[in-house]
Parts: sequence; structure tokens; C-alpha cells
Amino acid sequence: MIDIHNHNKTKTMIAKKVESALNQQIELEASSSQYYLAMASWAETQGLEGVAAFLYTHADEERLHMLKLIKYVNERGGQALIPALKAQPQKFKSVQFVFEEVLKHEILVSNEINNCVEVCLKEKDYTTHNFLQWYVSEQIEEEALARKILDKLKFIGGDKSGLYFFDRDLGGIAVADTSAADKGKA
Ligand SMILES: [Fe+2]
Ligand SMILES: [Fe+2]
Repeated sequence: MIDIHNHNKTKTMIAKKVESALNQQIELEASSSQYYLAMASWAETQGLEGVAAFLYTHADEERLHMLKLIKYVNERGGQALIPALKAQPQKFKSVQFVFEEVLKHEILVSNEINNCVEVCLKEKDYTTHNFLQWYVSEQIEEEALARKILDKLKFIGGDKSGLYFFDRDLGGIAVADTSAADKGKA
């Protein structure tokens, strides 16, 4: 029988396993943000303003992914844990290397999101499962974008003027992303 006078039951609690999976994801989104920030700062010092702008925007987006998770965990009666920041690499050997790392990292994030989804299914937490679908689609987009950028870089090869236009194009993508975010996209 349901005890309607028990106020403790009015609060929905997420399962511990779901809570800890989401807390791990919070840490991963936070470290993704820091990683892209490190890449952005390096690119800026190399005179690659467009690449830097793109990566700064990307770092901001990862922070928003983290915030969205923090608020969700707390709203569902859990506690979001704010992780320590680890040191990031300061130097990268090339722009191509940077975007290879971005793609590798996004694939890792996609795998971790899938793990969270799996935990939700095991725990029969369909609310969190539904919440995570946003991240599932986001990862498809981010992986596709990283692949597209890498294809362009392979096409350019070592061509300096190609890199100039590539940098200019990426700056354009960053501006479009920022204005879309301002309109409430993110
Ligand atoms: Fe993310
Ligand atoms: Fe991402």
C-alpha cells in the first residue's frame, strides 16, 4: 500500500549506480572542456585565430554539457560532485594532431554516454534514459564534425595557403555556433 503521508517518498531519488555514472560523466565533460581549452590556447599562440575560436567555443559547449548534468543530478535528488582539474598538455605537434585528438576524445565520450545509457536500462531508470538521449544525438553531431574537419585537413596536406583558408573557415563555424547558442540552441 502507498503511504501518502510519508513525505520522504515525495522526493524522486536516482539510483546510486545512475548517480555515480552521471558523476563520472560530469568529470569527463569537465575534463573535455579543459582539454579543448588547452588546445585553443596553443592554437592562439600559433596565430591560428580561427582554430582557436572554434576550440574556445567547443570548450564552452563542453562546460554547458557538464552544467546540464550537474543540474539534472541535483534535481533528481542526487548530488553532483565537482571534480578536480587535471593538468592538460601545453603543446601540440600540429593542427592535424589536435583534430585527431578531438575525434579520439569524442569517440571516448560517446562510449561513456553509452555506458550511462546501459546503467539506466539496468536500473530501469527511464527518466534518466530519456534525459541522456540529448547527449546521444549531440555525440553523433560532434563526431561527424570532427571527421569532417579531419577530412579537410587531409585534403590540404602541408599546403600553407590551404591552412590559411582552413583557419578562416573554422573561425566562421565558431561564430555561427556562438550565435546559435545565444539564441538558446545549447
Ligand atoms: Fe560533451
Ligand atoms: Fe564533445
